[in-house]
Amino acid sequence: MKEKIGIYLIGAYGAVATCAIVGAKAIAAGLSDERGLVTSSELFRGLDLPPVKDFVFGGCDLRKTSVLEAANEYRQRNNLLPTELLKALAPELKKVNDNIGEGIALGAGATILKIARARQKQNSVLQEVEQFRARLAKFRKDNKLDQVIVVNLASTEPHLDVPPEYKSLKDFEKLMRANAAEKFVPSVLYAYAAFSEDCAFVNFTPSLASGIPALTEMAEKLRLPHSGKDGKTGETLMKTVLAPMFMARNFKVLAWEGYNMLGNRDGAVLDDPSNKRSKTADKDKALRSIIPDPDMHTRVSIEYVPSLDDWKTAWDFIHFEGFLGTKMVLQFIWQGNDSMLASPLALDLARLTAFARRKGEYGPLTHLACFYKNPMGVTEHRFDRQVQILEKYVEKHLAGKKNKQVKK
Ligand SMILES: NC(=O)c1ccc[n+]([C@@H]2O[C@H](COP(=O)([O-])OP(=O)(O)OC[C@H]3O[C@@H](n4cnc5c(N)ncnc54)[C@H](O)[C@@H]3O)[C@@H](O)[C@H]2O)c1
Repeated sequence: MKEKIGIYLIGAYGAVATCAIVGAKAIAAGLSDERGLVTSSELFRGLDLPPVKDFVFGGCDLRKTSVLEAANEYRQRNNLLPTELLKALAPELKKVNDNIGEGIALGAGATILKIARARQKQNSVLQEVEQFRARLAKFRKDNKLDQVIVVNLASTEPHLDVPPEYKSLKDFEKLMRANAAEKFVPSVLYAYAAFSEDCAFVNFTPSLASGIPALTEMAEKLRLPHSGKDGKTGETLMKTVLAPMFMARNFKVLAWEGYNMLGNRDGAVLDDPSNKRSKTADKDKALRSIIPDPDMHTRVSIEYVPSLDDWKTAWDFIHFEGFLGTKMVLQFIWQGNDSMLASPLALDLARLTAFARRKGEYGPLTHLACFYKNPMGVTEHRFDRQVQILEKYVEKHLAGKKNKQVKK
């Protein structure tokens, strides 16, 4: 029997979410091929992944707009998503709007609230969770869905010193009941509510979400799959490809300076030092893990350059030492469109998570490490090795399927 799968996007009007919805609808209408989707590559042939074209989308946001308006705004600012495409998809995009509601503002921080022109409600922590759970349940019921996957694509939250109560589910729940609002950020409430509603969770952002011990414990207990954090789409992807090469050739990396410029709404949020702190920590961790030399100088800067919009530029300067102390330099410039890199990966993660759920897999989905800057439950950051983990996973399932067919 074909499963009906709901994808609930947190930050549904954001650039990545909008491009994911438009992309899936364009594929469904036969107006785009599946280039850029990892799960549509040869490796996955025969795996019975749920098709992107059948996904039912829903979600929430703090801003008040619509998917079609968000897509039109994206088109104007980035000269992508042609008018004819959006015209053709307009009826479908309007339908998605029926499934989009208000998000949790509690703990989102001043910068996000200002940019979203939103206000925090007077609700208690528990009320926020209960209301969100009701929205998820409604999405499932209204659309007669067999399973729902919650995908966090919201703005990067401000840094939060992880409270000691986050170490266990019992203490986390106690903290919610005590209404200690200052100790919460929306992503952990979203993940808690998602698990309570029997949904798998994908955290594409650097925010805490399901990665805290209390929620890892909850996912294990309820046998729900989850993964995160922070999609690996550009500069960090390059770092985790190149850094192993320096190690393999026994070069000493003296300095790795990464300078990023971006001008989209994500960039505006990251202009706040507290939100930026959450992002740069993830970006630096991968490199430090591959090159554990304490003498190596590293820095990741992220600067907001409004005119660039979604066309991010990363300039990396790598100073290294080889034979007889000879110093050399490698530089690269990455100019990618952030949402066109990220949105297919969000769809890939949704597909692979739905598949894992169907197979009864739960806890951190470690085979998805190659999608993340800071993968959950995995210490491996080298991209090629991470891809091998995914390949092995796919091969295991393909072999299982063949064995079943032979037995029949
Ligand atoms: N684009 C990439 O290459 C890439 C890579 C890795 C991670 N990410 C992360 O993905 C996320 C989305 O990026 P984007 O470019 O789409 O950003 P965006 O600013 O365009 O979209 C974020 C959306 O989230 C909404 N939002 C903020 N707080 C919310 C809350 N508490 N509840 C519900 N909605 C909320 C905002 O109103 C906005 O519409 C960011 O956290 C970003 O760091 C992006």
